[in-house]
Amino acid sequence: MSTLWGGRMSEPPADELMEFTTSLGFDRELAQADIAGSRAHVRGLERAEIITRAEAQTLLQALDQVGAELESEAFAFTSTDEDIHTAVERRVTQLAGEVGEKLHTGRSRNDQVATDLRLFAKVELLEVAKAVIELQEVLLGRARDAGDAVFAGYTHLQRAQPVLLAHYLLAHGWAFARDVDRLLDARERLDVSPLGAGALGGTSLPLNPAFTASELGFAEPFQNSLDAVSDRDFAAECLFVLALLGVHLSRLGEEVVFYSSQEAGFVRLADAYSTGSSMLPHKKNPDIAELARAKSGRLIGNLTGLLAVLKGLPLAYNRDLQEDKEPMFDSFKQVRLGLAAMRGLVATMEFDYEKMAEAASDPTLVSVDLADFLVRKGVPFREAHRRIARLIARYLEAEISSRPAGQVSKDAPTLKDLVRDEPDLGEEAAKLCDIGTALVARQSPGGGGPEAVSKQLQQFTSQLRSDMARLQALSG
Ligand code: ARG
Repeated sequence: MSTLWGGRMSEPPADELMEFTTSLGFDRELAQADIAGSRAHVRGLERAEIITRAEAQTLLQALDQVGAELESEAFAFTSTDEDIHTAVERRVTQLAGEVGEKLHTGRSRNDQVATDLRLFAKVELLEVAKAVIELQEVLLGRARDAGDAVFAGYTHLQRAQPVLLAHYLLAHGWAFARDVDRLLDARERLDVSPLGAGALGGTSLPLNPAFTASELGFAEPFQNSLDAVSDRDFAAECLFVLALLGVHLSRLGEEVVFYSSQEAGFVRLADAYSTGSSMLPHKKNPDIAELARAKSGRLIGNLTGLLAVLKGLPLAYNRDLQEDKEPMFDSFKQVRLGLAAMRGLVATMEFDYEKMAEAASDPTLVSVDLADFLVRKGVPFREAHRRIARLIARYLEAEISSRPAGQVSKDAPTLKDLVRDEPDLGEEAAKLCDIGTALVARQSPGGGGPEAVSKQLQQFTSQLRSDMARLQALSG
C-alpha cells in the first residue's frame, strides 16, 4: 500500500507523519458530499471527452458502491488512507480497475475538499434553520396559550415593569427569527462551487466549472481559482451564525435555570426533561438549560479557533485549512442537539401563572405609568420622575417600618392609598396601581401591553410562515 503521492518519495511516510496529518478520524462526515462531488467530476470528464461514456459508467458505478459501503459502515479503511478523499479514490480504483486511475484527472484535493465542505454546509444550514423554526413554533404556541398572563419583566435582574408573558416569550422568538435569516443568508453566500480550480491555478484540460457547479446544484462556479481553494470565509461565517444562535440559546437557558429555581418558581420542568442527583434523592435539575448556556462557550471557541487558523495564511491552499472541519462538524452537531433539547424543554415546562402574576403585582412596578400620568397633566418628566420616586420611597419606608419582624405588614398604607391622596394624582391614577389597568393602558406599538402583543402575535406568525415557505422552497 502506498499514498497517492508516494511516487515522488524515496521512502515510505513515517508513522508519526501519518498519525499527525491524517484527517480520516473526522472527515468521514464528508463521505456522501465527496461521492456527490466525484460523480459530478466524472460527468464533467465525460462531457469534456477526457474519458469515454463506458469509462464514466464504470466510475459512477464504483462510486455508488463506495457510497453504499460508507453508508452501511462496511467500508474498510487502510492505514495509508490519509483522508476521506484518498480512501474513496483508492476504493474506486480497486473496484473499477485501471479506469479508477482517471478519476482524479484535472482535480486536486484542494478544490475537492472545498467543494465537499460547502455541500455539507448547505445541507446542515437548512437542517439547523428547520430546527430553529420548530423551536419558534413552540414559543409561539406557548405565547398564544399564555393569553393575558402577566409577567414581571426584568432589567439588571430586578423586577422592572409588568409585561405579558407572551411578550417575553416572543422576544426570544424574534431573536431566533434573525438567526433563521442569517443561516439562510450565509447559505446563499456560500453557494459557489470551487470544483475545477485544481490545486490552485485551474487546469489545461477542457473542464468546465460551470457544468459541475450546476450538476452539484450550486448557484454558480468560482471566479478565481486561488480564492476558490483557499477561501474559508464561508466556514467562519457558519461558525459565527451558529455561535450567535448558541448565544441566544444560552440566554433562554439561563432564564429557564433561574425561573425554575425555588427562588423564582415561575416554571416547573417536566420530569422527562430534568435530571436528578446521584446523591440527593429530592433533586430535580435543569441540566438541558445549563448545557445550552455552556455550549455557547464552545461554539464561540470554534469560531475564534478557526479565525486564528485563517489569520495570516498565505494564498492559496495550506494544510492548515484542514483544521476547518472539526469546528464545523462540532458546531453544527451541538447546535442541532441543543435546539432539539431546548424545544422539548420549553414545550413541556409548566408555567405557574399565579406565581408570575404575584411577582408582577408589586405596585411599584407601575412607577413610570404614574409618572406618565403626571406628564399627561403637563408636569415635565424629570419632575414627575422625582415626585413618583419620593412617593415610592415614602411607601417603602412606611411599609418596612410597620412590618412585624419577618412578616408582611397589614396596616401600612398601600401605594394605592398614597397615590389617591397625592395632589395631581388621585383616584384615577390610583387605578394604575392595579397591574391589569396599567398594562391595558400601555398601548405603544411593540410594547408589552395586550393590544400591542396581540398585533405582535400576528406579525410573528406571518414571519414564521414566510420563513417556513423560504425553507420549503430551498429544500425542494
Ligand atoms: N484532508 C485535507 C484537508 O482537509 C485535504 C486536502 C489535502 N490537500 C493537500 N494539498 N494536502 O484539507
